[in-house]
This record gives sequence, C-alpha cells and structure tokens, in this order.
Amino acid sequence: MASSKKPTEEETQNKDLEEACKPGPPYKNAYRYFEGLYVSYSFTDRNLRSALSYKPLDGDVFVVSYPKCGTTWMQYIVYGVFRDGVPPANVIEFMNMAPFLELVGAEVAQAMPRPNSIKTHLPFNKQPYSDKAKYVYITRNPYDCCVSFYYHTRNAPMYRFEDGTFDQFFDMFVEGKVDYGDYFDHLLSWYEHRGDSNVLFITYEDLKKDTRGWVLKIADFLGKEYGDKLRQSPDIFEKIMAMISVDSMKKINADMNNWSKDLASVPLETLPEGMKSFMEAMGNMVEKPFKGEFVRKGIVGDWKNHLSPEQVSRMKERIALKTAGSDVMELWKDAGLP
Ligand code: A3P
Repeated sequence: MASSKKPTEEETQNKDLEEACKPGPPYKNAYRYFEGLYVSYSFTDRNLRSALSYKPLDGDVFVVSYPKCGTTWMQYIVYGVFRDGVPPANVIEFMNMAPFLELVGAEVAQAMPRPNSIKTHLPFNKQPYSDKAKYVYITRNPYDCCVSFYYHTRNAPMYRFEDGTFDQFFDMFVEGKVDYGDYFDHLLSWYEHRGDSNVLFITYEDLKKDTRGWVLKIADFLGKEYGDKLRQSPDIFEKIMAMISVDSMKKINADMNNWSKDLASVPLETLPEGMKSFMEAMGNMVEKPFKGEFVRKGIVGDWKNHLSPEQVSRMKERIALKTAGSDVMELWKDAGLP
C-alpha cells in the first residue's frame, strides 16, 4: 500500500537535487557555466580563466563574434591584410598567428607575432578590453547562424552530437543552450558598441555583398597605411581577394580534419601551457577528429533549406522577445529574412 506520509523538507530537497542531476541526453551535457559563460568542455577552466584575465597590449587587434558568423573569414581577411595576401601554411601556423583566446589561453596570444589578430567569441562584458586595442565584430542573421552552427556541432566530436538532428539543435539554439549561450545576448552586447571608434561592426551579409569594399574598410580600420597599400598595390589587393574566397578557404577543411592528428604528434612538453591544457581536454581527438566541412557553403539564405514554417515562427517569436526595444534586426532589412 502506498504511504500517504508527506515527504520531509530534506527528502524534497534530495529529490529535487536528484532530478537536477539526472543525466539527460549526452549532447545536453556537453556544456556548463563558467563565470557566467555557457560554454562547452573543449574550453578548459584553466584556459578560460587565463583568457578572461588577458590584458590587451596597446594596438592588439581582436576578431570577435558569436560562433558561426564568419569568424574564420574575418580572421583570414585580417591575416591577409597584415601579410600582403600570403596565407598561413597550415592550421597549426594559423592557430599560433591568430590564436583563439578561450581555447588556448593567454600565453599563446601574448607570444603571437604582431601584427596579427586574436580571436574571441566573448560577449562585450567578458571581452578583455582596452581603448588602445581594436575590435572587429562580425555578426550574421540568426537563421543562417543557427544552420551553420548545427553542422558545426554535429561535426565536432566534443559536442557529442554526431547523430543529432536539426530539430534538436534548433530547440537548443532558440533556448540559448549552445556553445557561448544565447545568440541575441551576444549580439546586443556588441551592437551597443557599434559606434565606438575602436570597434568595427560588420555583418556577414554586407561582407558577402561587397567583399572588396569591406576589405578596404577593414584595412583602413587596422591602420591607414594598410588601406593605402591596397589602393596603391592592386596585385596585393588581388592576392588578398584570392586568399579569402570560399573556394580557396575550403583548403582549410582537409587541414582541419588532420589538425588534431598533427597537433597530437607534437611532443606535449614543447607546447605552451594553454595548448597542453587544451590537448588534455581533447584526449580522444586523434581517434575522433573534426569531420565534415569547416568552410561549408558560405552563402546567405541556407536557412530556407532547413527551417520548417513552424521553426520560422518560433525564431520570429524569439527575435521579438529578445530584441524588443532595439533596432538591431534592421541590420538585415535587405537580407530577405522572413
Ligand atoms: P556555412 O556553414 O553557412 O557555410 P565561423 O568561421 O564563425 O565558424 O563561420 C563559419 C561560416 O563562415 C560557415 O558558414 C563557413 O562556410 C563560412 N565561411 C568561411 N569562409 C568563408 C568565405 N571565405 N566566404 C564566405 N563564407 C565563409
């Protein structure tokens, strides 16, 4: 016979705790909060702490974005401008010359040969900030960002989402429960700073529409001497344009798949502390490297091939809720969004 005895407060608390600790699907356990950031376990506590305490040097350049908004494209543009259109030889060189701060920690950024840029995916309030540093922020419409992020999350083993479906990912995205948390919070935090003199705020869609014009603006933002060089040396400008095309950047894909193997073959003791920490966290990365394409389609509007009408409605509701009182969505008034 079932007991009608009321559970004690302690029993209720224990039950709540048990409920909260119940393992959900593995792909929902690939993230945790670290100092207010919702991030995956590929970012070790050590490297996150180190990244968040990084003190920008005068003249540091940061490429900042929410994931899958065109970060690598922008890193390549900045790299090309600084190096006259000569691309990095391989992903390891790229990671050292344009380090991802939260992934590898501050030491790699400190040691980076300058001029180069440091990548972060941090919202403004977590971004290492100095008014003597420059920030290029790239954003992308939330529909295409969501689609691109779905493929990325499937392809990178640390997310434990190899068999995940778009519907599952869409739910996570609109709940803000993906790597780096909520898309809109991130965007709004930087949108407020779009007029700051040391911030260049760009959309992926504008960059796609007028790549040449934007490369010039980016070069001028990095330093008038870089813009002038492009105006005076069409051959260098053309080299940069060739280096940053989708087709030429697709060369990264094979490299990305081999990257973990290449990195694993470097003796651990020769790596900077941050890289060691990352490698330790990614213990199985040689057996399960990144698969699929990192540089995928590189187009505007792929959301039309993925979102159901019901998902479009839910995204619109989310946009209305999160951006109420802001004109941020005007950024995409010409992008053909639903
Ligand atoms: P898709 O998955 O929609 O193709 P991030 O670098 O922030 O991870 O962003 C990845 C997205 O940028 C991917 O979008 C990728 O294809 C796109 N991308 C990368 N290089 C590009 C380029 N040269 N031109 C246009 N898009 C590019």
